[in-house]
Amino acid sequence: MRRSIARALIGPLALAAVVTAIPLAASASAAPAGVVVGGFPIDVSQAPWTVALSSRDRFGRTRAGQFCGGVAVSRTTVLTAAHCMADEVVGTPPNRVGDLKVIASRTDLLSTEGEEIAVRDVRVNPRYDVETNSGDFAVLTLAEPLPRGAVVAMAPKGDAAYEPGSQALVSGWGDVTGGGAYPRHLHAARVRVLADDVCARAYPGGPDGAYRADTMLCAGDLAGGPDACQGDSGGPLVASGRLIGLVSWGTGCGRPGDPGVYTRVSDVLRSLGGSAAGPQRPEKGS
Ligand code: ARG
Repeated sequence: MRRSIARALIGPLALAAVVTAIPLAASASAAPAGVVVGGFPIDVSQAPWTVALSSRDRFGRTRAGQFCGGVAVSRTTVLTAAHCMADEVVGTPPNRVGDLKVIASRTDLLSTEGEEIAVRDVRVNPRYDVETNSGDFAVLTLAEPLPRGAVVAMAPKGDAAYEPGSQALVSGWGDVTGGGAYPRHLHAARVRVLADDVCARAYPGGPDGAYRADTMLCAGDLAGGPDACQGDSGGPLVASGRLIGLVSWGTGCGRPGDPGVYTRVSDVLRSLGGSAAGPQRPEKGS
């Protein structure tokens, strides 16, 4: 099924309608403060590895072209979701989007804070499966290095950060209501990693995807609560200072029984192991 791609597409495109109908300030104040219910605004310095993926040609200037999230894992390497780079989202093969950029060190998309860096190369995981959403990651190589310190380490397989109950922070510029309210400021939400059997029961296989414990993890609250949402895809889920997930999919946002599903970063590490596109050791920095 291509539902997840359709949903990723609906988010950014629906935005144009929302923005023309309601001034940004009004939509921001009407929304609960968060990446969906229970989240909160943060300054990018609190999660400096969080970047926005931007194409103004494709998505317009109203939110600086933001259409997905990403995460810096080295000064020239950004991870995002494979589905963010689908033709249906960016309108063309990703290596041909002329103005594909990452926006780094910027809290307010409409400010000139931080920097915009061109993407030099896009590699979509060849094993990404649109039916299940398994393997939902892509590796972007930047034309210029990001600032030192704007990088997060990837948690290796077996790291305690992956254990159920682990507290994690997800950050992005995605929908803060589940109803298409896209903020200009970065938001974050606290979520807990759930056990694989819980995730598998929540998503045995349906139109939105199927849970695969080797390539995914899920997080949130089964009673409903803080969650990522459309527009956050590709962005970071960080626990104990290490990257464990990339926002990937879910049924709705923050709904009871439907936790958020993330690309499992230890599987990204495994896939990249030894390849030229593989992660470099993240620099220590301020
Ligand atoms: N697929 C969405 C995107 O493209 C992310 C959805 C995450 N959903 C969730 N309930 N955690 O932005």
